Amino acid sequence: MHSFEQYMPTKIVFGKEAELKAGTLAKEWQAKKVLLVYGGGSVVRSGLLGRVEAVLKAEGIEVEELGGVKPNPRMSLAKEGVKKAINSGADLVMAVGGGSCIDTAKAIAIAAAKPGTDLEEFWSGKVPIEKALPVGVVLTIAAAGSEMSDSAVLTNEETGKKAGAHSDLVRPKFAMMNPELMYTLPKYQLTCGIVDIMMHTMERYFTPVDGNELTDEIAEGVLRTVIRNGLKAYEDQQNYDALSEIMWCGSISHNNMTGLGRPKDFACHKLGHEIGGMFDEAHGATLSAVWGSWARYVYQIDIPRFAHFGRKVWGIEEVDDIKAALAAIEETEKFFERIEMPVCIGQMKTGVLEDDVLMQMADSATKGDTVELGSFKKLKKQDMYEIYK
Ligand code: NZQ
Ligand code: ZN
Repeated sequence: MHSFEQYMPTKIVFGKEAELKAGTLAKEWQAKKVLLVYGGGSVVRSGLLGRVEAVLKAEGIEVEELGGVKPNPRMSLAKEGVKKAINSGADLVMAVGGGSCIDTAKAIAIAAAKPGTDLEEFWSGKVPIEKALPVGVVLTIAAAGSEMSDSAVLTNEETGKKAGAHSDLVRPKFAMMNPELMYTLPKYQLTCGIVDIMMHTMERYFTPVDGNELTDEIAEGVLRTVIRNGLKAYEDQQNYDALSEIMWCGSISHNNMTGLGRPKDFACHKLGHEIGGMFDEAHGATLSAVWGSWARYVYQIDIPRFAHFGRKVWGIEEVDDIKAALAAIEETEKFFERIEMPVCIGQMKTGVLEDDVLMQMADSATKGDTVELGSFKKLKKQDMYEIYK
């Protein structure tokens, strides 16, 4: 086991009506004015935004709003939010939505804490993240795990580049998680979320360091749980217990509990972000589209690891490691297909991409072949291209 540090500052309030705690939680952070960040309208239609506003106002807290966050959230809207936060004097940013709203809220929290600095400078690394306003979350979808994570992913629509910024300072201070809020999710978003949760776990599972028993058991438990309950929720989206399990898996999968004591891989996320940034595809779908190709490209690096994954997660009984490893990859893809997720780029709305586009994405992901991605197998530009292909 490698040495590690773990920091989980997020207070979780989980269960029915959790969102009604928004006022008291904001008060714990001495908030006087909260900037509420939401998306394309689902929380307005469901009445959730109104409920959150009411409990904040009941505590004497003023409210500002920034709506219109899109999936694959845009840098330009976040910049608008920064202005709004500074001009209104907001002292807490609260996302009411999914990963896209949370990441926009985190970006606002970073730049509003340092007026006069362009948001992009934090993303390029030119300016370090040294402080941030507190961020709170009312989660409406289990997927990105941003409610406990240290990252915020934005798309710069001018360049088509999707990239993240990372800091413990943006880990949300509190997150309200009411599984009932997921009843209104479009099925496609539910299943994209299930894939993302699996991928946050698998990107930490297939790495060059073995011998982390507890971390492995947690990761395998998260995978079995999200797969089992993912199927239940896919069949019946009002299944509160299944949604509860999925929602909690989403947080555990990405707060690092599934990866302690070893490096991360995250090459599939890099492959996926290129597709998401360029073609505005849903994040989870970009991941299921590339995972099988990635796995077949790299599995020979550590066949016993893939075989172990197959036995522990999919219950594969095959004793031959190579056969078990290949069966595990197949089972994973079959599961993605069963919940109607793509298993290659051609199955996405983008459709089959020309060679030069694939090469362009491989080039962008590796910054012109100057950086290698992943840790299980370090991937160069040509490797990325082969996987896309
Ligand atoms: O915008 P509205 O109208 O709210 O609709 C949203 C959106 O269209 C809808 N939705 C969410 N909750 C709903 C709902 N519709 C009905 N009822 C509900 N309860 O779902 C759509 C997708 O929302 P989004 O916030 O984009 O989903 P998700 O949570 O999957 O977030 C994806 C984003 O997070 C990033 C992804 O790259 C992507 O940009 N990620 C962030 C990470 C992080 N910060 O740690 C890690 C992840 O790996 C990921 O990269
Ligand atoms: Zn993800």
